[in-house]
This record gives sequence, structure tokens and C-alpha cells, in this order.
Amino acid sequence: MVEIKLENLRKTFGKIVATDEVTMTLREGELSTLLGPSGCGKTTLLRLIAGFYRPDRGRIFFDEDDVTKVPPHKRNTGMVFQNYALWPHMNVYDNIAYGLKIKRVDGMKYTKAAIEKRVQAAIDLVHLEGLGDRHVHQLSGGQQQRVSLARALVIEPDVLLLDEPLSNLDAKLRTEMREEIIRIQKELSITTVYVTHDQHEALSISDRVAVMEHGYIQQFGTPREIYQHPQTIFVADFIGQCTFIEGSINNLGKYIQVQIPDGQVIAGKTTIEEYPFEEGESVKCAIRPEDLHLERTDPRDNEIIGTINRTIYIGNALEVYFSIGDISAQALLDPDLKFESGEEIHLFAPRPEVMILPLGGVEALRKVPGHPLAEAAAPTTAKSSA
Ligand SMILES: Nc1ncnc2c1ncn2[C@@H]1O[C@H](COP(=O)(O)OP(=O)(O)O)[C@@H](O)[C@H]1O
Ligand SMILES: [Mg+2]
Repeated sequence: MVEIKLENLRKTFGKIVATDEVTMTLREGELSTLLGPSGCGKTTLLRLIAGFYRPDRGRIFFDEDDVTKVPPHKRNTGMVFQNYALWPHMNVYDNIAYGLKIKRVDGMKYTKAAIEKRVQAAIDLVHLEGLGDRHVHQLSGGQQQRVSLARALVIEPDVLLLDEPLSNLDAKLRTEMREEIIRIQKELSITTVYVTHDQHEALSISDRVAVMEHGYIQQFGTPREIYQHPQTIFVADFIGQCTFIEGSINNLGKYIQVQIPDGQVIAGKTTIEEYPFEEGESVKCAIRPEDLHLERTDPRDNEIIGTINRTIYIGNALEVYFSIGDISAQALLDPDLKFESGEEIHLFAPRPEVMILPLGGVEALRKVPGHPLAEAAAPTTAKSSA
């Protein structure tokens, strides 16, 4: 097993900065996900780890080994692509065996028997028993993705890299393959980096999630941490739903009080303890739909008054879309409730559930002492790895 350490990585393509200032440690045996919208730099970062790209700056370590300049075939990583990338003229067995046939361990080739044993084990691992002779075009999408998984794993890689491996599958197969990937990853306890743009997939598959925007990692944490304590507005918005109400701080304390444009005050908590909030600073109050209630639970709960636009009955809950002045908001309420559009609604948000977030993404994180993106941190790391 291998721990992957990324230090201040940057990769540009001409004028495009695909990813920058990436400093993170992917723990051994864990499945870490790179999550973010299309174009945010996920594939670039994965390819840097695989060795297909050289970074402009920064270093990559596999345990204590600096692999920054090590070519891909010497990093012992297995890669699975979105489009499977199988050889169409070969059968399942040969597709899986290919990597072993060209692999050398201490300059030695694998014997035919050793290859057979390993390919069979890989076929069993991904549950393709009896399909070794099939041609790739005779397989379903799910089966093809199992072949590419087996092909990546048969070389016994230290690191497994998966780039949107489920995007080409239909919804049902996607769930099935997702569970298979989790099973295999846990069975082998292999350090895995998984790329997806799907937040639900990321939350359900990962030990840890790195949320990316415009090439930067805005947060790296467990699914619970990033949902419950998002550190930027982007993360709060990208993971799950949130109503955002902008205002300015009029009192700092255990609870931060924020004056919103209609004169009301909302009190909530910060999700970044170290961020240096100041009185008068513009911030956003972020509230999850499930944290808005019809009843008060505490006399100090925030009262939010809005006008109902529309409700959607989803069986186990009622999604309520409403407006607070110009702001669109949403709540998740008891499915037995009924509302008319245009009706006024009074909701209550407990102070501990309201998240107070600074404006800005990376710029805000730079003000957090000790953060990998903090203003003081960047130049030193850049110098040490230049
Ligand atoms: N080979 C390349 N040449 C030029 N630009 C690239 C190349 N690969 C990626 N990019 C650009 O870098 C940015 C990040 O791309 P990518 O890592 O593929 O994002 P993602 O995988 O998150 O969709 C995008 O703006 C993309 O257009
Ligand atoms: Mg990509």
C-alpha cells in the first residue's frame, strides 16, 4: 500500500492553468475522490499522479519516493478510463493479460503459468467467470467496465486510478458497478483515486472527497465533513442544496449575527474556525433545506418568513420552494403538509444549523492560517519544490 503526497502541483497547457497549488495527502488504502464540474482539472490531476503529465511545478511522492520524474510504466499504477479503452480485436482474457505480458519485474517476464493464474484471479475478482473467450463487442457496457477494472488490477498496482468510470453506464448499472468498485477496493485495500463530476456518486463511494473548482482544491475531507462543514460557498452549493442569504456581520461571538437587507438579523456558526471574520464584512448565511422547520425548537431560532412558490411531493418528504424577498429558498418538510402557492410561510432555522461563509473561494481560503492555500504558505512551498 502506498500513500500519495502532492506538493504544490501546477499544470498549464499554454495559457490555460488546468490545476494549481494542489497540496494534499491521499492516505494509503483509502478511496479519495476528485469531484468538481467539467473542466475543473480532475483529469489533469489524475494524469499527473499517473505520470502521463509532468507538472510545471511541485512534487509527487509515493510513500517516501519522489516519483515526479518517474515515467508512468514505472509508477505501478492501474488506470480505468470512462470509455473503457479496451482492445476491440482481443478477447477478454487477452485484454486482461496484455499488461502482464509486457510487464517486467526486476527485468524478468512473467511465465505463461504465472500470467494464467493472475488473469484468472482478476477475472474472478471482477465476477467475469466463464467470459474469458468473449470478444469485447459481445459484452455489455457494465461487463466491459469490469474488464477494464480487471486489466488495471491484474498487474497488482500500488495505486488504482479511475477517471469517471461509471459515466457511460445507465443508472441501474451505475449503482451496481459503484458497489463493485467499493467491494474490490476494500478487499484489496488499494490506494485509489476516483474522478467524478457527480456529487452523489462522490459521497457514496469515497473515504475522502476533494472538491475542485477552476483547478484549485477548495476542500478535502470526509463526505460528512464537506456536507456538514463546507468551507466555501462553492462547496456548500456543489454538495447538496443550500439557500444562501447575503448580509453583513454586525456581531461576532459564538454565534455570528448577520444583518440581511430587509433589516432582519440571522445568527449562525462559522464552518471555518480559523477564518478571521470582521464586523461589517459581507458574508453569506447558508441553510440546508432539512434545517428549516415549521416549529421552533429553541426560542433563539432564526425565523425566516417567505412566500411559497411551489411544492413537490417526493414521497418521503415535501420539497418546498419559496422566496425570501428576491432570494429563492428551499425547505424539506413533512410529506403530509399542504401549501398553496402565494401563501406566506414562517420557518425556523436553529442557530447551530445556519452556516456563515465568507465571500470568495480560494481568496477566502488564503486568509485561513495554516490552510494549504494560505497566503504565507504558497511562496515557501513553491521555493522548496522549484
Ligand atoms: N491536453 C490539453 N491541452 C489543452 N488544454 C487542456 C488539455 N487537457 C485539459 N485542458 C484544459 O485544462 C482544463 C482542465 O481540464 P480537465 O483536467 O480535463 O478537467 P476535468 O477532467 O475536470 O473535466 C480545462 O480548461 C481543459 O480545457
Ligand atoms: Mg475529465
